Parts: sequence; C-alpha cells; structure tokens
Amino acid sequence: MKQIAIIGRERNLALAELETVFGAVEPILDDVVAIKDENSTSIDRLGSVIKIGKIVATTQDMFKLESLITAELERQVLEDKKTSIDFGVSIYADKYNPKDYRRLVINIKKLLQKSKIKSRFVLPKSLQLNAAQVKHNKLLRKGSEIMVIISDRTITIAKTEQIQNIDSYSLRDFGRPNRNMQVGMFPPKLAQIMLNLAQAEESATIYDPFCGSGVVLQEAMLMGRVVWGSDIAEKMVRASVENIHWLQNEYRIDGEFKVFEADATKLDTTPDKKYSIVTEGYLGKMYSQTVTSDEIATQKSELSKIYLGFLDKIISLEQTPESVVITIPCWQTKSGLEALNIIDQIEKLGYTIKQFKSVRTLDLIYKREKQVVGRQILVLRPKNSIKKGK
Ligand SMILES: C[S@@+](CC[C@H](N)C(=O)[O-])C[C@H]1O[C@@H](n2cnc3c(N)ncnc32)[C@H](O)[C@@H]1O
Repeated sequence: MKQIAIIGRERNLALAELETVFGAVEPILDDVVAIKDENSTSIDRLGSVIKIGKIVATTQDMFKLESLITAELERQVLEDKKTSIDFGVSIYADKYNPKDYRRLVINIKKLLQKSKIKSRFVLPKSLQLNAAQVKHNKLLRKGSEIMVIISDRTITIAKTEQIQNIDSYSLRDFGRPNRNMQVGMFPPKLAQIMLNLAQAEESATIYDPFCGSGVVLQEAMLMGRVVWGSDIAEKMVRASVENIHWLQNEYRIDGEFKVFEADATKLDTTPDKKYSIVTEGYLGKMYSQTVTSDEIATQKSELSKIYLGFLDKIISLEQTPESVVITIPCWQTKSGLEALNIIDQIEKLGYTIKQFKSVRTLDLIYKREKQVVGRQILVLRPKNSIKKGK
C-alpha cells in the first residue's frame, strides 16, 4: 500500500467508495485507510476523502518518530533548495497522550535547528490539523504536513499531498441559485460517492430520474459526464436547468445535458447509449422527531410503490442501465433504525445487489445523528444487462 486516505464521518460509504475506485483498501483506524493508488486519483473526485498522503516511512519503534519525521522534512528542504520550512504534524491514533504532542514538535524543531534549518510549526486544536489549517498555512505548497498513523501493529508516516477543497464544496452546496431548503439536503459529497459507486464507463451518460434541484447532475458534469435528468415537478426541472447554467459559468465548463419533466414510474425515454442511473429518490415526509413504526407504515407502503414501480419500469425498457445507484429512505424509530425493506422485491424484479469486501451492503447508510430520515444506498445491476454482456 503506497498511500493513506483520511476519511470523513461516513466510514462505511468511504470504504465502499474507495474499494470501488482503487480495488483494494486496508482499513487502519476508524478514519484512516491504506490505498494502492497507482493512478494518483484527484481528491476532488472522491466524496469521502479529507486528505491523501504518500507513505514515506513505517516503524514499530515510537522512539524513532522524531528522527524519521525530521529526515523527511530535511529531505524536502534540500529538494526545494531552501533553508527553512513551515510544518505541521497530525497524529491519528486510538491512544496517544496529548501531552506528548508538544514535546514531539519541539524536538523536531530542535533537530532541524541542528541541521541549520529554521522552522515554524503550526499547532492543531487537538492532535490533527484540519483541511482549512493546512490550506491557510500553505503547508502543501510551501511547507509540509506530516501525518502519523499509530495502529496496534505499526506506525506509518505519510506526507500529505492532497486535501479536500472545502471552498469548492461550500460553493457547490450553498452558492447555487436554487437550493432545496428542506432539512436533510442532499450533499455534493454523497452525490460524488454514489457516482463512483456506479462504476459507469467513461463514455456512459449519467441519468437522474428524480433530479430535484440537480445535485447529482452537477457533480456528474464536474466529472466530465454527459447528464440526463428528469423530475415529476416542472418547477424542479427549471431549478436544475438554472443550477446547471450557474455551474457552467462558475466552473467554466460546458458539456451536454438534457433535463425534462417525467414521472419516473412511467418513463419511456432513456439515453439511447450506455448509461447509469444515479439518484436520490423521493424520501417522503421529512420528520423532525423520532417516529413510531406505526407512524411510518403508510409512508413505507407509498414509497415502496414509487421505488419498485420505478425499478420495474426501468428494467423492462429496451435500453436498460448498466447500473443503478439509488438512495432509499430509512427512519430513526424509537426501537432503532427501520429500513424500507424492499431488497427481496428488488431482487425479484431482476436486479443483483452489489456486495463489497470491506463493508456489508446493507450498512451503506447516510444519516446525520439528529436526522430522523436517513438514506440507505443501494448499488444495483440489472441481471439482463449482465447476460447481454453490456
Ligand atoms: C429528494 S428530491 C431529489 C433531490 C435531488 N437529489 C437534489 O439534489 O436536488 C426528490 C425529487 O423527486 C421528485 N419526485 C417525486 N416523485 C417522483 C416521481 N414519481 N417521478 C419523478 N420524480 C419524482 C420530487 O419532485 C423531488 O424533486
């Protein structure tokens, strides 16, 4: 494994995304994963990753930490033909005494001094610098952030090479002319994860038949895709189109798109070449307080009809999608998380549900702690498209 990735709060989704993109992942800690990234994928295309670093050393000996970090910083100073460096150290560990942190960075500074290198360190609020601090202190371009990952088995030292572009995410999230102001808005990062899970061929079109204000369409366009979107509400069609124009202007991109009004359960038009469906379906009522199973019973039956109706329609069309990545709702009830439970019926319709090595398929859930309605993410493949060898 050559690189490590620091992942966000949604660990299961991150494992599924990284396994899909990189083939193999090795979880090290709750928020750290080792990856084999031969193509050096841009972090901007990954929804679940906060930082990516290149592994520069490993050791079993905690006492070697200072000298190994110093050696890496000295190497960088030499390479940059400089006499000084700004650095930061982030510690990822289940157990690490915060009191040791200050001593560590001061000792590194002293060791650098011995080699006639002036240095300044940036102190994190806890043990880790966040992406904003790394950016603000220019540690990627003019300095260095060293990440230390301490697991039961080994200590890994990595140099941060990419960080999440937080400004761009906020712009895409909050800067668009049409935002869905409802609780539990669909975040661009989740759209990216789902697009990656679809594993669509480069030339394939991405189609979102419940496109709403167009978050999936927007993220797919940024990935260079041709996109199609439709929605039952004419108002949402207009919102998506306006948002796409905004995106094209803001990000200086063009690209083909088609957005139209249609009921997803009665679709008769689909892209006529290879395509994948990536969509956040309709989640139903947005509850603000924990619900009982009885309260959601009617919702469940209504929503099941929409999803099964839609999936049934899609698989019966002449041109079926290569893959379908869809969110279905789940609810925080007084007795735990309750799912829509339509998996068996989905399989009966003729879909296979993708299994992952690093995470259980049914654990792909996106839900903030206080939210009542969460999203379960399903990665489906129509069986007939496997048979047809598409
Ligand atoms: C949760 S929103 C999708 C939001 C979207 N992911 C976004 O980022 O804006 C669900 C959308 O599904 C649409 N919808 C509900 N039932 C539909 C149906 N039968 N066919 C097509 N669209 C439908 C709603 O109008 C709504 O815009």
